Amino acid sequence: MDSKMHQAASTPEFVKRFLAEATASSTKRSLRAVVPVSARETVVDGRKCLNFSSNDYLGLAFHPALIAESVRWTEKYGAGSAASRLVTGTIDAYLELEQRIAAWKGAEAAVILGAGYMANTGLIAAIAGRKAVIFSDKYNHASLNAGCTLSGANFVRFRHNDLDHLEELIVREDDAAEKIIVCDTVFSMDGDVVDTDNLAAIAKKYGCLLYLDDAHATGVFGDRGEGLGCGASAHIVMSTFSKAMGGYGSCATCSSDMKEYLINRCGSFVFSTAMPPAIYGAISAAVDLVQGEECRILRRNLFRRVSWLREQLNAAGLNTGCSTTQILPVILGENDLALSVSRQLLENGVLAVAIRPPTVPKDTARIRLSLSAAHTDSDVEYLLEQLLLATGRK
Ligand SMILES: Cc1ncc(COP(=O)(O)O)c(C=O)c1O
Repeated sequence: MDSKMHQAASTPEFVKRFLAEATASSTKRSLRAVVPVSARETVVDGRKCLNFSSNDYLGLAFHPALIAESVRWTEKYGAGSAASRLVTGTIDAYLELEQRIAAWKGAEAAVILGAGYMANTGLIAAIAGRKAVIFSDKYNHASLNAGCTLSGANFVRFRHNDLDHLEELIVREDDAAEKIIVCDTVFSMDGDVVDTDNLAAIAKKYGCLLYLDDAHATGVFGDRGEGLGCGASAHIVMSTFSKAMGGYGSCATCSSDMKEYLINRCGSFVFSTAMPPAIYGAISAAVDLVQGEECRILRRNLFRRVSWLREQLNAAGLNTGCSTTQILPVILGENDLALSVSRQLLENGVLAVAIRPPTVPKDTARIRLSLSAAHTDSDVEYLLEQLLLATGRK
């Protein structure tokens, strides 16, 4: 073969321009090589660091039961799934797992989908026709926005967590053929929560479909880790298995009729290969574990440590916004400041990434801390000490 064929094509101007601008505004992201060694530690540049950037809130990613089940399901069903579940058939264990998920989440039915991002894009596009109006919180996750855009519906955003503004916007669109409210239950960059009861009441009053994203609540909230969405009489609750559940993938919980509809109309289910059996195995183990006493204790410890850390940070004058959950932003403002604090933390053995626009609004760059039940009291004390030093509070 002609070796010239392997030469890379020249870099397009728009790529060069983007990279130059992102570098100048300190918003360029890059990949960092790490080796995760446990739920609380990861090796960066050959050095063990405490990991305060992971969404593995219960430390289940390294739990022996998840690892054993993913190995067992691989050995039993193979490494890959070969096609969409509609094409090759659905392994009976997946259907049984979906029944267990539905019971856990208090719904009639559940359908397991791929990554949460895929779920949100496919599900929203499936339920929102072009004539629909979607009302979406300004701070909703990017995957929800992607789903709203993909649907082609009229996409209206209400001020963050301002349900009066939501109601105002709904009234303005009163004669829309279809109205859908789309909202996170726990906001991923701010760690605050929406009042799901109020949201459900508004949805009912105005005849809106309610779609909730329970990604950061699943496993963490509720006596059995069932999350925040399940009591809210939503039409669809999307939950992920990639965060507190320690694995990967997602599910929609809904009515049986809605499930039938979705497996026919959700593009990211119909036209995408099912996840590998290993992933279903890990989900199966996690669904059982989160409902038991072991995880109840983990949740209690997690919230005790988060409350302590929040109090200490606030007492030192650091701004943690409206967070009431395991996601604790330390809002610093300037991109460069957030980057330099993150760098200093890393030099001292703490991995805590700087989150910058466009992920968060301009001038609210932050260190997004996410605590895990796997952290110990002294890990959190060390984090506090290093944060106070890095921000000049000590
Ligand atoms: C609120 C929310 N929804 C959906 C997703 C996407 O889920 P996944 O990471 O499983 O693709 C995320 C990811 O961080 C998220 O924060």
